[in-house]
Amino acid sequence: MSEVQTAPSTVQPLLDVDHVTIKFGGVVALDDVTFEIKPGEILGLIGPNGAGKTTCFNVITGVYQATSGTVAFDGTPLKGKKRYQITKLGIARTFQNIRLFPSMSAEENVMVGADVHSKVGILRSIFRTPYFRRTERESRERSRELLRFVGVNADPEDFAVNFSYGDQRRLEIARALATKPKLVCLDEPAAGFNPAEKQRLMQLIHDIRDAGNTVLLVEHDMNLVMGVCDRIVVLEFGRKIAEGTPAEIQSNPDVVAAYLGTEEDDDDTA
Ligand SMILES: Nc1ncnc2c1ncn2[C@@H]1O[C@H](COP(=O)(O)OP(=O)(O)OP(=O)(O)O)[C@@H](O)[C@H]1O
Ligand SMILES: [Mg+2]
Repeated sequence: MSEVQTAPSTVQPLLDVDHVTIKFGGVVALDDVTFEIKPGEILGLIGPNGAGKTTCFNVITGVYQATSGTVAFDGTPLKGKKRYQITKLGIARTFQNIRLFPSMSAEENVMVGADVHSKVGILRSIFRTPYFRRTERESRERSRELLRFVGVNADPEDFAVNFSYGDQRRLEIARALATKPKLVCLDEPAAGFNPAEKQRLMQLIHDIRDAGNTVLLVEHDMNLVMGVCDRIVVLEFGRKIAEGTPAEIQSNPDVVAAYLGTEEDDDDTA
């Protein structure tokens, strides 16, 4: 009775990464990596610098094509799909290095995300039809709502580049959410955050999941990863070396040797 219930294997994975290898010339960035994410999970993807985490995001989001192996999302193979097609299917991401449109306001930066589903045609936008104006107003309102949701308190009409570093990172999450994703991939969202911001980010990640999303999180901050993830996959030199709950990962000797051991020696991991 007290046995821990594992998720029934009949639940179809939302994301299925199956024996994926990616080679860049002589560099094997991902080496036969297999894992899946169930709907509603918060999955952590961790590993030392250069382990292949961002490459994994890039193959999931169509930036790179796998040298071999397959990625399927919600039952649909992603092979050959363009980035915007993958976004439309329901995968959104943030970038390790912040990417903003410098000449746009914060809310417009978020609206760019919403554009992927926009039915506003070029003629409608040129002639600013009532339909266009209504859609634009709704999109602006939704952007402001998302900026509040991620915890940006600065003026949404201000240029995004004037925002604090933390607000720029949160804005990126809002832009990802504007695409109405099923799976949100966050690449080191806590980089450069102070402890209070990290705490708020943990809450935000939970809120994102509670709003109906599934989350894939790449992050170096072990307290954050262990505190927020349901399950963790560990990469080292492009290979998956472990997979399990935070407790299992923390006590896995391979992981400790590859990664956590160095974390204990050096607490300044941001
Ligand atoms: N476009 C590319 N061309 C050549 N090599 C690449 C390319 N992208 C990634 N790599 C290599 O693949 C390996 C994995 O890199 P990746 O950026 O995925 O690591 P990471 O786990 O995200 O590291 P970090 O924690 O530093 O962000 C590295 O050796 C990297 O140099
Ligand atoms: Mg990376």
